Amino acid sequence: MSTTDLKLEAKAKLTLEDKEYELPVVKGSESEVGIDITKLRNISGAITLDSGYANTGSCQSAITFIDGERGILRYRGYPIEELAEKSNFIEVAYLLIYGFLPTKAQLDDFHYKLTHHSLLHEDMKKFFEGFPPTAHPMGILSAMVSSLSAFYPEAGYNADIELNIIRLIAKLNTIAAFSYKKSIGQPYVYPQNHLSYAADFLHMMFSVPTEPYEVPKALEDALDLLLILHADHEQNCSTSTVRMVGSSEANLFASISAGICALWGPLHGGANQQVITMLQKIQDDGGDYKKYVNLAKDKESKFKLMGFGHRVYKNFDPRARILKHAADRVLSELGIKDPMLDIAKNLEDIALKDDFFVERKLYPNVDFYSGIIYRAMGIPTNMFTVMFALGRLPGWIAQWKEMRETPGVRIYRPRQIFIGETQRSYVPISKR
Ligand code: CMC
Repeated sequence: MSTTDLKLEAKAKLTLEDKEYELPVVKGSESEVGIDITKLRNISGAITLDSGYANTGSCQSAITFIDGERGILRYRGYPIEELAEKSNFIEVAYLLIYGFLPTKAQLDDFHYKLTHHSLLHEDMKKFFEGFPPTAHPMGILSAMVSSLSAFYPEAGYNADIELNIIRLIAKLNTIAAFSYKKSIGQPYVYPQNHLSYAADFLHMMFSVPTEPYEVPKALEDALDLLLILHADHEQNCSTSTVRMVGSSEANLFASISAGICALWGPLHGGANQQVITMLQKIQDDGGDYKKYVNLAKDKESKFKLMGFGHRVYKNFDPRARILKHAADRVLSELGIKDPMLDIAKNLEDIALKDDFFVERKLYPNVDFYSGIIYRAMGIPTNMFTVMFALGRLPGWIAQWKEMRETPGVRIYRPRQIFIGETQRSYVPISKR
């Protein structure tokens, strides 16, 4: 039976040895079905075991819908393709956080607040001094976001939370750019209120006191697109981390700082950095694609095709499709010829014809082509995951806020099946 036909009052039945238990069923607005096991342990003594939470719904959410089989991604009901074409990052951030598209007055007000909170407290600049120039910018980003809680403590009032949301979006741009300036030993460049969010970031990255950087429109638009495409992705690893930390009622900055750390890993947002490293290796190896495809198929090698595969998408990742076209467009608009783009396309062609990838439904994900556009902007490879974090921030905030505003949310606290030693007596060292 398809889940679309399931009646609202349907119950799931679980038989454990000779006993049968009835469990309520929850149905989402897109006919997604969940078996509610909240009371399972109380009534049966058993828990469910779900490694990697692949079948576990951790919450009910009205923010983002993904249908991985059909390659569908929607923010608050709006298809990603439409938002990518017609909207802008700040409007999308508003949509995700507040649940509706803003009026002109609401958007102007939001933009005004974001620009007027983009300065960092001057004392925060001293923190940057303490990091070695080799520090990975994701470590700096997470530490700085956590540090914001020292400057803007949350007293628990809604007004504080709303203001801290604005502060965080406004200041993350500045923190990200400052961490880059620190790494190359250049003076920090302050934000400018007349610029868009994307243009302001590029200005803070590439202006120097002796010469302001005139942000090319093609790059501003490309960055805005990238930020939109990364803005939310329902209960992925970093978002679940934000919710997990937030479920203990930790403040916004602490929760997002934890999410940044989760994003850093190469299986998640860190993959965009790894993709370029991999493409570079293939180039240095004389374009031996087969070698790398074979390595990825060999489990012993521990090598994976970075930017390939996804827990949810089993047909195509709509973000990767948009980015592949965008990479072509941006490079041609700027007159850049990047061999990495050809290598990526060739690798994709070869992998998509290979039974190993076909059988496992492995396709390019959002990280496969994004790095090529970042390179065209002049953004260094170790900043790629920071770019992902900038884009994902509104989604993290929206998810954190939704959790805070949902009555009855309990602290996240999974169970386990213990497989260690059962009780035994302590043996004194003289007798071991
Ligand atoms: N290269 C080679 N084999 C792969 C790859 C890959 N990139 N991805 C998955 N597989 C294989 C995997 O070994 C497994 O094979 P088998 O069935 O023989 O054991 C099968 O495909 C299913 O994979 P899985 O590990 O069960 O998939 P998962 O849902 O646990 O992991 C993933 C998803 C994205 C972590 C994984 O595909 C991966 O490591 N990809 C490379 C890293 C990457 O690009 N990450 C970015 C994800 S998209 C952006 C984001 O949201 O973070």
